[in-house]
Amino acid sequence: MAEGFAERPSTAMHYFSQDFKWEDLRDEVQSRPKGSDDVLGNLPVVSLDHNVEAWKKFHHLHAKHAFFKERRYLVKEFPDLLASDRVLNILEVGCGTGSSVLPILRANKAAVVYACDCSESVLRRAHSLVQTTISSDGNCRFVPFLCDISIQRLPSWLCCSSCMDLEGIIHEDSISSENGERLHCINGIDIITMIFTLSSIPPHQMQHVIEECFSVLKPGGLVLFRDYGLYDMTMQRFSATQRVGEQLYQRGDGTLTFFFTPESLSNLFVQAGFVEEENYFCCVEVRNRRRELPMKRVWIHAKFIKPQSPS
Ligand SMILES: C[S@@+](CC[C@H](N)C(=O)[O-])C[C@H]1O[C@@H](n2cnc3c(N)ncnc32)[C@H](O)[C@@H]1O
Repeated sequence: MAEGFAERPSTAMHYFSQDFKWEDLRDEVQSRPKGSDDVLGNLPVVSLDHNVEAWKKFHHLHAKHAFFKERRYLVKEFPDLLASDRVLNILEVGCGTGSSVLPILRANKAAVVYACDCSESVLRRAHSLVQTTISSDGNCRFVPFLCDISIQRLPSWLCCSSCMDLEGIIHEDSISSENGERLHCINGIDIITMIFTLSSIPPHQMQHVIEECFSVLKPGGLVLFRDYGLYDMTMQRFSATQRVGEQLYQRGDGTLTFFFTPESLSNLFVQAGFVEEENYFCCVEVRNRRRELPMKRVWIHAKFIKPQSPS
């Protein structure tokens, strides 16, 4: 199973914890004797072209499995998701089954969540989970759409305002139709959530993803980011043969995981025009209840803002 789906610390407090120093973990991993199992060893030449197909297969295979877990800590971790004196347009990139969408819809009745994924079957699943778990108004506040964000552009109706008048009122007669769905332009996104998604995209396509995010955000809009950090326990569980790039690993099913540092992330966002507000490692020691073993988890927590005016 892709690990990003299973992250669920019991409290938000966990997420802000610095249970250990990241530098100590780095030194510990780097000082280990280099053997055949060395996860930092030489790189094989591997094609990353089939990542999206691998994700589609992954969702197809897991369609009947009940591995869905809501990220209930998300709105505590990112209180910007609750600000609601007006309608908040949120875009969740790579929404999967909706683990991040559901807690947002539940916590903020003024939020409309647009959500994309490259897999049609997982979008259907997310839609039906929203329908069954959130009241009928939640259903109207959830707009899933298909997009391979690694190579495609986000739809223009996300940032366009051509069917609105100067007061921001949408004219029904200018509602456009796309893929049989009735959609209207929404004049820009206030907040983008990217939760364990960028790590699943090949590094050479990440810049495109961030630039697309920049293009649909309103000036002053935010990207709220959480993903794997370098030397996370899950990275150390990969075998040497699964290492397919710097900080990049491929699971047996072909899906990818990249492990970020604040620096690698900052470069991507700043290059696209964002300003960094928060960007750091969360280092959390979790106990494996069954085996009583301590597990060192490392995540990146970050927040980037699109400036009001270009610098
Ligand atoms: C680890 S899951 C994270 C799901 C969700 N954000 C969450 O909070 O649980 C990564 C998701 O990214 C999607 N994904 C991977 N590559 C993508 C691409 N190129 N375009 C759109 N979605 C993609 C996968 O299908 C998967 O649903």
